[in-house]
Amino acid sequence: MNKSKFVIEGLGRKKALSGTIAVRGAKNAILKALAASILFEDEVEFKNVPEIEDVRRMRELLVGLKQNPELHRDIAERLRASIVLTGPVLARYGEVTFPFPGGCVLGERPIDLFLDGYRAMGAEIVENDGLFIIKGKLRGAHIFFPFVSVTATETLMLAATLAEGRTILENAAMEPEIDSLAGYLNTCGAHIDGAGTPTLKIEGGGILRANGRPYITPPDRIETGSFLILAALAGHDVKIVDCEPKHSAALLSLLARAGIKFEIGESSISLRQGLTLPQAVSVRTHEYPGFPTDLQATMAVFLTQAEGEATILETIFDGRFRYAEDLARMGADIEVLNPHKVRIRGPRALSAQELEGPDLRAGLAYILAATVAEGTSVVNNAYIIDRGYLAIEERLSKLGLNIKREQI
Ligand code: UD1
Repeated sequence: MNKSKFVIEGLGRKKALSGTIAVRGAKNAILKALAASILFEDEVEFKNVPEIEDVRRMRELLVGLKQNPELHRDIAERLRASIVLTGPVLARYGEVTFPFPGGCVLGERPIDLFLDGYRAMGAEIVENDGLFIIKGKLRGAHIFFPFVSVTATETLMLAATLAEGRTILENAAMEPEIDSLAGYLNTCGAHIDGAGTPTLKIEGGGILRANGRPYITPPDRIETGSFLILAALAGHDVKIVDCEPKHSAALLSLLARAGIKFEIGESSISLRQGLTLPQAVSVRTHEYPGFPTDLQATMAVFLTQAEGEATILETIFDGRFRYAEDLARMGADIEVLNPHKVRIRGPRALSAQELEGPDLRAGLAYILAATVAEGTSVVNNAYIIDRGYLAIEERLSKLGLNIKREQI
């Protein structure tokens, strides 16, 4: 692995960024679509693919699966989305072997919903030496998720596509990435009804055929949101293009309440900065269409620069405030009240620091914090940011930020 870090010259309170920045394809969409290629008889073409590290890892897993239905242990242990492969592999080959999946450490990320789902669909599960071995010919089942899970919804939806009979998934996640995948699979012979609602009905059937139709990766709404927050913090005339504004509705409504002015186009959002200080707004993370947990750390950076006191209530994960200490070191007034709640008072001037993101989303939040700080900050472990964001330094440089990648 190539070790590098980012060096960022902070702007302080200057609103110096301007220009246009394009949003790339969504990481959390393409990873699942790549996994779904197992359901196909023919070749699938993917468009608008961000060449990020996690996509490379998923490709390596797919190559390994050509030999046998077992996920490469080292890679799967680094990538949460690896679990999504288990659905199509099991449905197509009648067995799959995989380790407990890795990914960002956000607190507990169990896999009980997947295992319960497979059992309900008739599979048998053996756990041996840290590996799960699942076997069985899948049949349709009625599954009610006790809580909403994005990857469990996607995985069981994919498994059900090749299972025998009808599957109903209730209390399913409604993220747009699921809708995008279901829509594509339906054009290739699948029968998935209700994607984007809490109830999915899937009629299982035969193997899918792409017949030359490509999967087009939708724009990354987390990247869109991060750029919006960056523009609100440090931009005076920034246009975000190639995005899907309606996927950012929760963030846009909060930013509007904070006093940020923007114009929404069909696939663009422009921010023109006024002189007034943004007002603090409290945030509560929620499954889509609510405020995404993946923007929680970035929003915390925003709140350090807004006037007043606000809280962030994290309802999805219980280990997602590990950034708070670093922001406090930079001068933020931030207090972790309990594992689900932080309080932030602003505005506070931030000062440059040497940082290292505890997860991929917080890594990007640190780049934003470094941007509004006084002085030159270092954000170590660029890899964790490269996992989800393509060549971020090149794209942010074009807006006028002085950010460089340096090898360690
Ligand atoms: C996905 C996203 C991640 C995002 C998260 C929430 C991918 C690759 N990652 O993660 O970026 O932050 O959705 O929007 O798409 N849970 C269980 N048992 C399970 C599965 C989940 O208890 O079997 C719990 C989790 O601990 C968590 C909640 O369900 O509290 C939601 O997790 P989930 O939606 O599954 O998140 P991920 O799929 O891990």
